[in-house]
Amino acid sequence: MQEKIIVIDFGGQYNQLIARRVRECNVYCEIYSYKTDIAKIKAMEPKGIILTGGPNSCYEEGAPGCTKELFELGVPVLGLCYGAQLMMHVLGGKVEKAPVREYGKTELVVNNNEPLFSEVEENSICWMSHFDYISKPAPGFDIIAHTDNCPVAAAEDKKRDLYAIQFHPEVLHTQYGTRMLYNFVRNICGCSGSWRMDSFAADQIKAIREKVGDGKVLLALSGGVDSSVAAGLLSRAIGKQLTCVFVDHGLLRKDEGDEVESVFGEGGQFDLNFIRVNAKERYYDKLAGVTEPEQKRKIIGEEFIRVFEEEARKIGAVDFLAQGTIYPDVVESGLGGESAVIKSHHNVGGLPDYVNFKEIIEPLRNLFKDEVRKLGLELGIPEKLVFRQPFPGPGLGIRIIGEINAEKVKIVQDADYIYRSEVDKAAANYKAEYGDDPKWMPNQYFAVLTNMRSVGVMGDERTYDYAVALRAVNTIDFMTAEAAQIPFEVLQTVMSRIINEVRGVNRVFYDLTSKPPGTVEFE
Ligand code: XMP
Repeated sequence: MQEKIIVIDFGGQYNQLIARRVRECNVYCEIYSYKTDIAKIKAMEPKGIILTGGPNSCYEEGAPGCTKELFELGVPVLGLCYGAQLMMHVLGGKVEKAPVREYGKTELVVNNNEPLFSEVEENSICWMSHFDYISKPAPGFDIIAHTDNCPVAAAEDKKRDLYAIQFHPEVLHTQYGTRMLYNFVRNICGCSGSWRMDSFAADQIKAIREKVGDGKVLLALSGGVDSSVAAGLLSRAIGKQLTCVFVDHGLLRKDEGDEVESVFGEGGQFDLNFIRVNAKERYYDKLAGVTEPEQKRKIIGEEFIRVFEEEARKIGAVDFLAQGTIYPDVVESGLGGESAVIKSHHNVGGLPDYVNFKEIIEPLRNLFKDEVRKLGLELGIPEKLVFRQPFPGPGLGIRIIGEINAEKVKIVQDADYIYRSEVDKAAANYKAEYGDDPKWMPNQYFAVLTNMRSVGVMGDERTYDYAVALRAVNTIDFMTAEAAQIPFEVLQTVMSRIINEVRGVNRVFYDLTSKPPGTVEFE
C-alpha cells in the first residue's frame, strides 16, 4: 500500500500549497474535510496527519473542530496555524485573542532543532497570519520556537509525536518552510519518499483498468493540457476502450487542431479511438452576425454540446464519461474542500446530462497543474502540448471583438502566433544568458482582434484596417493580474512583424490594464 499523508482541511487559504509541498517531498498526500469520519481516516492508514489553517477561532461555539481521538491514533500529527491552536485547545492548552495580531514576514527564533527543525537556522524568517495565539501549550508540550509577539511559534510533544506550528511553513516566504515539512513527513512520519510521477502513472493505470474492466469510456478532448493528459493516461490504461471526441470549432490557435490530431489521431503515439469533428463551418454559421459577448459564449458552448451529443449518439451508450478535472477545479467549484467558493469553473458541468453513461471518472482529480504537466511528460505527450498556456473554452471567439468570421479568425491566429513566438524567443534568450525565466515572463499572453479600424499608410497607399491588441499578464491565480512588463524592443519586433506579415492589420496596441478592473480575456 502506498505511503500516504492526510491533510485535514479547516478552510485555510494555503491548503493546496500544503499538499503540493508534501508531494514535493515525494510523499503522496490527499486532502480531506475536517468533517471526515475518524474511522475513515484510520482505515486509510496514513503515515502522518497535517491539520491546516483556517479562518475561525477554535474556542468559539460551532468552530470547525476535531476530537481527542485524532491525536491518539499513534500517527504523528502536525498542526499548522489554526490546526496548531486546535491541537492545543483540544489537548488542554490555552488559545486566546493575541494582544498583537501578526501578519506577514516575521523573525523566527528556533531553540530546539530536533526533529522538526533539523537543519533550520536559529534565526530565520517565517510567514505569520493570525489573530489568535497559543498563550499556554497543552500539558506535555515544549515550546521550540518563538517570535517577538508570539511566545509559542512552535511546540512539540515528542513522546506522542505531536507538533504545532503557528506560522505557515507551506508558504515560500518561510525561509526553511519546505525543510520543516520535509522533516515532518520524511523524518518524523518515516515516509520513504518513493512517490514519483511514474509510480503515480502506474498506480493510476492499474486503478483505471480495475475500475473500467471491459467497459467503454468517452472523453471530450479539447486539446488543452488537462484533457490531453487525461486522454494519454486513459489510453495507456485501456487503449481502444477509450474514445476521444475532439471538436474543432475553428476557433483554436494557429495549427492547434492538427497538432492535437497528430498526437492522438491515427499514426500518433497513443492507442485509442480518436474522432475529430471539423465543425468550423457550422460554428461560423451559427455565429454570423452575433456581436454580443455573452451570446457568443453561449452559442459556442451550446454548439459544443450539440456536436458532442451527436457523436456520443453514434458511439452509443458508454459505461464511463471521463473528464480532465484537476484539483484546483474541484476547489474552485466548491466541491472539494472547506475553502470559500471562488468561482464555478467554466469547464465542469454541462456535459453529463447529454450523454448516456453510468459513471464519471476523473483520473487527475488530485493533481495540481504542474503535476498534471509532469504526468503528461511522463506519458510521452509532446512538450509543446504539455506546456500550453491556459486557453478559454470559447477560444478565439472571445478574442475577436464583435462579429466572428473566417477572415477575422485567420488574422487573430496569425497575429497571435507571431506574438507568442517572439515572446518565447526573447524569454529563451534571456534564460540562456541568465539561467532563469525573465521577471516579466507572462503567465498568459495572446493577441486580440479589436473591432476598431483606422486609417494608416503603407507603401504610399492609404489603408483602413484593423487594430490588434496584445495582452500579457502576470498572475498567480488568474483572479487578479497585472500587465506584464514585456521589454519594449520585443513589443516593437512583434508590432513590425504583425503589420508586415498579417494582412488586414495596420495598428498594434499593448494592453496595460490590470485585473480588476479589466478581465484577462476581452469578452
Ligand atoms: P478572465 O477573462 O475571467 O480570465 O479574467 C481568467 C482566466 O480564465 C480563462 N477563461 C476561461 N477558461 N473557459 C475556460 O476554460 C472560459 O469560458 C474562460 N473564460 C476565461 C482565461 O483565459 C484566463 O486564463
